[in-house]
Amino acid sequence: MQTQQESRITIQGIELALACPDVLSYHWVGQQDVLEQLLAAWLVIDPKDIPLSPRLIGKPGVGKTTLAYAAAKAIGRDVYIFQCTMDTRPEDLLITPVIDKAGGIRYVASSLVTAMIQGQVCILDEGNRMGEKSWASLAPLLDARRYVESIVAGLKIAAHPNFRICVTTNEDASTFEIPEYIHSRLQPQIYIDFPEPEEEKRILSENLPFVDEAIIDYVVAFLHRAHISDERYTVRDGINIARYAAKRIKSVKDKPDMTGFLRQAIAMTLGDEALVYAL
Ligand SMILES: Nc1ncnc2c1ncn2[C@@H]1O[C@H](COP(=O)(O)OP(=O)(O)O)[C@@H](O)[C@H]1O
Ligand SMILES: [Mg+2]
Repeated sequence: MQTQQESRITIQGIELALACPDVLSYHWVGQQDVLEQLLAAWLVIDPKDIPLSPRLIGKPGVGKTTLAYAAAKAIGRDVYIFQCTMDTRPEDLLITPVIDKAGGIRYVASSLVTAMIQGQVCILDEGNRMGEKSWASLAPLLDARRYVESIVAGLKIAAHPNFRICVTTNEDASTFEIPEYIHSRLQPQIYIDFPEPEEEKRILSENLPFVDEAIIDYVVAFLHRAHISDERYTVRDGINIARYAAKRIKSVKDKPDMTGFLRQAIAMTLGDEALVYAL
């Protein structure tokens, strides 16, 4: 079994166990403007200046999480991703008490609080899945005060000057409205749109370097036709389709019917209605 050394820190006499960063092989391809917009929001241009807390918006699967991760890596920071859900409670975002082996209480810092303490980057992913109570606990962090207050641990924790945060939100049904006073703190909003076909091809090739170009080209053409009709299908769907079709093609002994397997992969990923955009 693999064990990971847990790191700890003591703040105001209270020992906190810290989270581990997310180590992923995400690279951003194309659309340099949105990367530059995000990096500019994080920039501090004067001793009296503070970084902004930008919000990435766009359909599920357009690359929001990937962009935030790549931007953090571009400035040489570790990345801590906090996945928000409708069950996320305020203490989950900050510090959770757990019972230790000896029956005492141990305080565990969230990935957000760990990033704040260490001066790294936190991605609050799919932030609009969590409710207003949880957002309320972040209000002081998202303005000039830059701290959070954990009622559970009785601690006020200030963000390290290098700490940066980015929130992603999805445009889909299973989400809450972000309260107005939080919305006004999550600025600027950076909109990620569908990439151009040439960029989409590079994204698919970057994610699936082992897949035949003919498969990639087919999927890029499919996605392009769907984008023109403003369908919700994104590059994530394209990656799943190409990956599955490549597996099917690899698994047959005789000469495979590439188009047949691709059409099937489209139907199995997105439903039969998506076939109107397939060749
Ligand atoms: N511009 C891009 N460069 C590299 N990969 C991308 C890009 N856009 C999307 N992807 C890929 O598409 C998939 C979905 O991206 P993700 O960031 O998870 O989307 P979102 O967070 O918007 O739902 C991932 O596998 C990601 O690697
Ligand atoms: Mg995401």
